[in-house]
Amino acid sequence: MKNRILVTGGTGYIGSHTVVELQKNGYEVIIIDNLSNSSATVVDSIEKISGIRPAFEELDCLDYNGLDQLFTKYTGIKAIIHFAASKAVGESVEKPLLYYRNNLVSLMNLLDLMPKHNVEGIVFSSSCTVYGQPDELPVTENAPIKKAESPYGNTKQICEEIVRDVIASGAPINSILLRYFNPIGAHPTALIGELPNGVPQNLIPYLTQTAMGIREQLSVFGDDYNTPDGSCIRDFINVVDLAKAHVIAIDRILEHKQNDKVEVFNIGTGRGLSVLELINAFEAATGVKLNYKIVGRRAGDIEQVWADPKIANEVLGWRAEESIEDTLLSAWNWQLKLRERGIQ
Ligand code: WQD
Repeated sequence: MKNRILVTGGTGYIGSHTVVELQKNGYEVIIIDNLSNSSATVVDSIEKISGIRPAFEELDCLDYNGLDQLFTKYTGIKAIIHFAASKAVGESVEKPLLYYRNNLVSLMNLLDLMPKHNVEGIVFSSSCTVYGQPDELPVTENAPIKKAESPYGNTKQICEEIVRDVIASGAPINSILLRYFNPIGAHPTALIGELPNGVPQNLIPYLTQTAMGIREQLSVFGDDYNTPDGSCIRDFINVVDLAKAHVIAIDRILEHKQNDKVEVFNIGTGRGLSVLELINAFEAATGVKLNYKIVGRRAGDIEQVWADPKIANEVLGWRAEESIEDTLLSAWNWQLKLRERGIQ
C-alpha cells in the first residue's frame, strides 16, 4: 500500500469521487466527515466502486482534540486533502459567522496538528470565487484577487492566506491550492454523485431534479448580462476530472516535485458555457426537454468566468478530458439511479 491520506469531507460530492481516485492509485484513505451535508452510506458506495472500504470516522474538523486523537489512532498519515467546509454562497450571506468559524477554524486545527504528527502536506479545496469578476478572461492564477462577493468566497481567500502565512512562518509542511471552477456530473457507475440536502442551490442538481419532475421548473437567474445570449457563463468541469487533479497534487507533494512550498492551480476546462447553452446541451445529450423560465438576477452572481488551465496542464500534467455531453449524461444517470433507489 502507498501512503495514508486523510480526506476531510470525504463523504461529500467532490471528496467521495477523490477517495475513489486515490484508492485506484494505491493510496490508503481515511475519511473524516461530520455528515452535516452527506451520508455515511457513501462509504458503502465507494467500497462498491473500488472494492476497498476506506476507514471512516464521523468527526468535525472543529473538534481539535478529536482530530489530535485521530492522527494518533491512524499513525503515518502523510498528507491531507481538505474538502470539509460550508459551501453555499447564499447561505454564507445569511450566516457569516457559521462560515467564518467552520471554514477558518477547521483549517487552522489541521495546520496546527500537522507538524506534531509529521503530516507532510495539504491539498486545499479552493475556488474560482477568489477571483470575483475577473478583468480578463480566461482567468489565470496571476489574476488579481478581488474583494469577495460573499462570506463563502471570502473564507476561501482567507484560507489561502492562512496556508501561506503558516508555511512562511517555517512550519514543516507543503501545500497545493486547487482553485475549482464549477464541478458537475457524477461517477460513471452512478453509485456516487451530487446529493444536496433540501432545495439545491447549484445549477445542475436543480436542473436534473426539474428534468426528473421533482422540481416544477428551473429558474434561470437573468438573461440580461453582457454575454452572447444574456445568461451567465461558467467553466463546468467533470467531477471525476477534478478528482484526478487531487491525486496528481498529492503525488507531487509526496514525491517532492513542487517548485515552491505553496503552489496554486486553476482546475478548469478552459471552456466557458452559458447557462442557456448548458440547458440546450443537456436536452441534446439526454433527449429530455427541460421546463425553465427566465427570472431576475441572483444576488452575488458574477457575470462570466472561465479558466486558463495552462499551468495545470503543463506543470501538473493534468487536463480535463470528459466532454460536456458525457458529463451531463452522467448527472442525468445519477438522478435516474437516485429515483431507482427511492432516494429522490
Ligand atoms: C451557476 C450559474 C447561476 C441555479 C458556486 C460557488 C463555487 C462552487 C459552485 C462550491 C449561475 C445559475 C444556478 C439555478 C440558475 N461552490 N443558476 N438557476 O454560483 O457559479 O458557483 O457553486 O464548490 O465556488 O461560487 O454555481 O451552480 O450556483 O450557479 O440560473 O437554479 O447557474 O445564476 O449563473 P456558482 P451555481
